[in-house]
This record gives sequence, C-alpha cells and structure tokens, in this order.
Amino acid sequence: MTLNASDPAAIEQAAQRLAAGDLVGMPTETVYGLAADAGNASAVRGIFEAKGRPSDHPLIVHLPPAEGGDWRAAVAPLAREVPDFAVALMNAFWPGPLTLILPRRPEVAAVAAGGQDSVGLRCPSHPVAQALLKAARAHGVLGVAAPSANRFGRVSPTTAAHVAEEFAELGDEQLLILDGGACPVGIESTIVDCSRGVPVLLRPGMVTPTQIEAVCGQPLRERDEAAPRASGTLESHYAPSAQVRLMPAAQLQAALDVLGADAKGIAVYARATLRGGRGVTQRRMPADAAACAQELFAVLRELDATGVKLIWVEKPPEGADWDGVRDRLQRAAA
Ligand code: TXA
Ligand code: MG
Repeated sequence: MTLNASDPAAIEQAAQRLAAGDLVGMPTETVYGLAADAGNASAVRGIFEAKGRPSDHPLIVHLPPAEGGDWRAAVAPLAREVPDFAVALMNAFWPGPLTLILPRRPEVAAVAAGGQDSVGLRCPSHPVAQALLKAARAHGVLGVAAPSANRFGRVSPTTAAHVAEEFAELGDEQLLILDGGACPVGIESTIVDCSRGVPVLLRPGMVTPTQIEAVCGQPLRERDEAAPRASGTLESHYAPSAQVRLMPAAQLQAALDVLGADAKGIAVYARATLRGGRGVTQRRMPADAAACAQELFAVLRELDATGVKLIWVEKPPEGADWDGVRDRLQRAAA
C-alpha cells in the first residue's frame, strides 16, 4: 500500500507501523529505504528476509535531527565513542547524504549492525524522512534501520513506484510505502568509517573526499581489506538485468558504427551527440554530476524495462564530483 506522504495522517500511520514492528518504504534525499525499528530484532530480520540480503551485511540506522543541534548527544545512545572529527562531519553534513560508522554500544541495534561491533548512522535531510523519524521517536522508536529498498544486488529505488515494484509480493499488512516523490540526490550516501581513529572512505557519494578532508582537517584514507563488509562495496552491485558496458564517447561511436541496421536490443546513455544507431534507444546523460546522479537509477530501470539486452553508457568525466556516479556505474557494469 502506498500513501501520499504530504498527508500528516500518513506519516503518523507509518510511524505506528514502525513501532508495531512492520516495514515501511521511506523516502530519503538519497534513495528510498526499507525501514524498520532498529531496536526490534524481529522487525530488522524482516528487512533482511524481504531484501534477500545476507544477515551479516550491516544496515544504516537513521536518526531524527538532534535537539538543539547537539549531534554528540544525539548519537550517544547508539555510539560508544565519537571522535572529534566525526562530530565535525555531523556538524557540517547532517542532516544530509553522509553515513558515519562509529563504535556501537554492545546492547543496541545488534541485528541491524549485522554482527559488527560498529553501527552506521545517518540523519537524512528529506522532510518526509525527518517527519517519520520524529513521529516514530514519539512512539518509542530510537532509530530506524533502513537499507536501500531494493532486492539484494539490484538497482536502488528513487521513487515510491520503484519500491512497490521491488516488493510486489509483500501484502499491505507487511509493507506500507510513503510516497515522497523522486529522491533529489538519487544515489546512496557517502560512507565514512570513523571507528578506527582516522576517517576511511567506504563508499563514495555526493559528499566528496575534498569536502570531507576540509572538515576533518586530515586526509581521508582509502578502504582496505580490514574494512568491514559493505554490500555497496561488492564489485558487482546496483545491477540491472541488461548488461551494462562503460565506454568513452569515441569507442561508443565506433560500436554504433559497426552495428548498422542490427541495432535492436541496445540502449545508449551518453553525453556526447552520437551518429547513427537507428533503432537504438538513446537517453542523454546530463553534463552535470548532480543532475546525472539524481536520474541515474531511474534511467537504468527505465532502459531495463524496455527489454534491451545491452546498455552502453558513456564513461563519466574525471573529477571528484563524478566519483559517486562513476562508482555506481562501474558496479552496474561489473
Ligand atoms: O543513502 C543511503 O545510505 C541509503 C538510504 C536509505 O539511507 N541507504 C543505503 O543502505 O544505501 P544500504 O544498506 O543499501 O547500504 C548501506 C551500506 C552497506 O554497504 C553496508 O554494508 C554499510 O552501509 N554499512 C552499514 N553499517 C555498517 C557498519 N557498521 N560497518 C560497515 N559498513 C556498514
Ligand atoms: Mg543498497
């Protein structure tokens, strides 16, 4: 069942469902989440089951905005230790598309954390997510565990309709979806591990390394083998059914040139103006990274739905503002 989130009664109903241990499709500024009360072990197991996600892959716990902007106090019930650089990141980027991994208090959110002794925390900026998190808090829900609302390994949802599509076989009693429109950021949050004394980038997103380093006053390390498991860091992830291939514009043009009339079953997503390719489904990639991120997953789903076998995508430009998009496309192509 999908409810329009601009109705306050819908928010209250969703909050009550969370408090009762049910699943809610929650819009955030990044992607839609499949939400449950992080403190309710059986509700959280319901998320893993619905997604088909291995239960040792940790989930992000979402928090409402801090009272009086005191983030250190806001995360204290869940996080055991909070380094100063993590508080600086919260002050700079929360609410917003940044997730911080912090040492977890052993008595909280164990199932959501997938067995890690850390916990991923994020305060979303989306007004519907914030309203839901606040209303749920009033019903005793401290934090809301929510991975992206897609089946394991599939493209993340950026509209309520995508969520309904992913979980079509869940009944109205099992899943309530709040429709908050299309997600404005469009790709998942940047993840920074703050549990090892220095900031480590686990997943690129629209908050860039340059921005993070400026706030932390120290270099952002690359992830290594010691980093905890993150399904968003698996080589193949975010994959549509069609095969995705990334190519520079010249190579894409050459590939179109040899196709001739035999162009059925191929879609192209490119910034460059390409010649030929009659019969090829073409979508223009925005020249701006933020605009591309915003539409990326919806475009992949849309092209996939046309039944094409191949999606040829022009390589994103160099530069840190494209890191998030480049990362998602590389995984979709793997
Ligand atoms: O933008 C987002 O982050 C969205 C929205 C709904 O908030 N959520 C999202 O969740 O992308 P998910 O589960 O699809 O990806 C979360 C990533 C996973 O790769 C997970 O392994 C990692 O965060 N993660 C969560 N908790 C962690 C922890 N304690 N240690 C290491 N990685 C963690
Ligand atoms: Mg995901």
